[in-house]
Amino acid sequence: MTGTDVLHAADLLRAGEIVAIPTETVYGLAANALEEKAVIKIFEAKNRPFFDPLIVHIGHLDQMHKLVAHFPEKAKQLANAFWPGPLTIVLPKSFLIPDIVTSGLPFVGIRMPDHPVLQQLFAETDLPLAAPSANPFGYVSPTTAQHVEEQLGDKIPYILDGGPCAVGVESTIISLADPDDPILLRYGGIELEKISDLIGHVSVQVAVGSNPNSPGQLDKHYATSKEIILMNPEDEKPEGDFTTIGFGGEGVFDINLSKSGSLSEAATHLFAALREADKSPKPTILIERVPDTGLGKAINDRLNRAARR
Ligand code: TXA
Ligand code: MG
Repeated sequence: MTGTDVLHAADLLRAGEIVAIPTETVYGLAANALEEKAVIKIFEAKNRPFFDPLIVHIGHLDQMHKLVAHFPEKAKQLANAFWPGPLTIVLPKSFLIPDIVTSGLPFVGIRMPDHPVLQQLFAETDLPLAAPSANPFGYVSPTTAQHVEEQLGDKIPYILDGGPCAVGVESTIISLADPDDPILLRYGGIELEKISDLIGHVSVQVAVGSNPNSPGQLDKHYATSKEIILMNPEDEKPEGDFTTIGFGGEGVFDINLSKSGSLSEAATHLFAALREADKSPKPTILIERVPDTGLGKAINDRLNRAARR
């Protein structure tokens, strides 16, 4: 069931149930992060392998001391600058976090989302919420409550509707497992440049399937059921019956991610565009990459994974 009843969502979470929640990036599928039995239900509903760790979401900084063993200076700087917002920080976990949340790793990814409805939920429960994106494992992430309803509606007792997600791509993930060596594990809603401006050099280890630092960042992900052909704007278009997705005012596309050429607008529309193209009668999806700067890195990362077969 989908609705806007924050108190009902809070009751379910306190009772050890799973609830789909709105965030500014994508919808999440949440459970009390401190209760193993509740967290298992997330993996079951999503059909997610247990080697793929979950991000823990918090409402305010007071929750940090319970969740992490250390909160190093660089993490505090990042939190002050970008929370609430689309940044996940990986830190040594406290003993209170069950192994199932981190896939047995001694580190936990934490973020404070920026969404008014979710803030109301945190004001109500104060529970740290483990939540992956609320899609079946491997499919495109959901950016509306309806996306969640369509695919997981029969597996989730409640979907808390907070409207369409403003950012549209998932959080940037920075590991401070070693605070002297910050590592970018996933491009996302906060540009890498802004992070390195604040804390200095960040090495990039954006994962492929075999990278043990970021289990679950699989090469093939965000997959539509239709084949995706990915090209650069300068490439010659192949012949065929495609739904075309592109960016900017120059081209003619069935779906334009941003006519004004705004990368943040393109990010907002990305996943809904993939879903729309997947539903169209045309058998194949043809997509032009966006400029590979700033948020464009997160968008192109999702496109590359979506196109891999
Ligand atoms: O924006 C987001 O981050 C969304 C919303 C719901 O918050 N969540 C999200 O979760 O994208 P998910 O499960 O789809 O992706 C989480 C990824 C994992 O696949 C893994 O690569 C990385 O985060 N991750 C989580 N915990 C980690 C850890 N302890 N160490 C390394 N990577 C971790
Ligand atoms: Mg996901």
